[in-house]
Amino acid sequence: MVSEFIEMVSERNALQKKQLRRLDLSEEEIEEFEGVLCFLSDVYGCSLDFLAESYLFLVDMIKEEQYYFAVNGRYRNSTFAEVDREVYHNQNYMDKYMTGLALSDYIWKQHLKMIRFFEVVLREQGRGNNYLEIGPGFGQYLIRAVQARKFCRYFAVDVSPTSVQKCQAYLAYRGLKDICEVVIQDFFEFSSEQRYSFIVMGEVLEHVERPLDMLKKIYSLLEWNGQAYISTVINAPAIDHIYLFRNEEEVFDMISQAGFEIKNHICTAAGDIKTETAMKKSLPVNIAMILTKGRNKK
Ligand SMILES: C[S@@+](CC[C@H](N)C(=O)[O-])C[C@H]1O[C@@H](n2cnc3c(N)ncnc32)[C@H](O)[C@@H]1O
Repeated sequence: MVSEFIEMVSERNALQKKQLRRLDLSEEEIEEFEGVLCFLSDVYGCSLDFLAESYLFLVDMIKEEQYYFAVNGRYRNSTFAEVDREVYHNQNYMDKYMTGLALSDYIWKQHLKMIRFFEVVLREQGRGNNYLEIGPGFGQYLIRAVQARKFCRYFAVDVSPTSVQKCQAYLAYRGLKDICEVVIQDFFEFSSEQRYSFIVMGEVLEHVERPLDMLKKIYSLLEWNGQAYISTVINAPAIDHIYLFRNEEEVFDMISQAGFEIKNHICTAAGDIKTETAMKKSLPVNIAMILTKGRNKK
């Protein structure tokens, strides 16, 4: 299915054809990519046509928002309420968006780099009791964490019913549903007596109005000496991005205001663009960080 999907996207979009020709996936990654396509086809009856359309829907949406950003110097939306209505609770939109996003993890260099970084982090991660993920979307990170089986309990919250449904279905397809609970909830409304050994939040920080409060909440839920994997974006417009980080320093300042230490991080720009060039020209950059609470502190 992977080669048929690539062929179909390439036929419809010349720029993507160029990008797809340069795909550099390991055999294992091609197998996973195939697995995602099979899941979408087996469980949701998605045709290759719909899969290609969903991926190109994401590409077009980003292009449109980049144009808006270039002209106006800001993201189009600025409130959670707007995005909640237009995107998170719009099933048709979310269906295509989350499908496109899951496929982009194997096509976009920056997404692939972050997944690979996360896999190394998971391998190096010690055993713990509770794992929490915020905004798993389709569940590409969650599934890797559950498969690694480093924790006794896995829990995830996502504000979008479509994301939760897809994530649960994907876990079930891989035989992992009983190990992990995924619920529909805004993380700001989440409360728990538990403390978590590892908290993961991939590309959610830019989706909220008060990212510092979100980070502080994550900090308070983390065990002493626990770790968090958090990724976000800089100058990267999308329909549901409402908080604009303009450079790395703004991200790092907020992280340290929340109380965290940064143990390790990576930055990556899209395609062939060098990260430093992207930063200088206010082009999109993804940043993924491993944060600690307590380690190195007296
Ligand atoms: C861009 S997707 C990221 C998916 C996945 N974590 C990844 O890195 O590929 C953002 C997800 O966060 C969810 N989300 C946004 N705001 C949230 C909030 N306040 N609480 C919980 N989930 C939220 C959205 O519904 C969506 O599923």
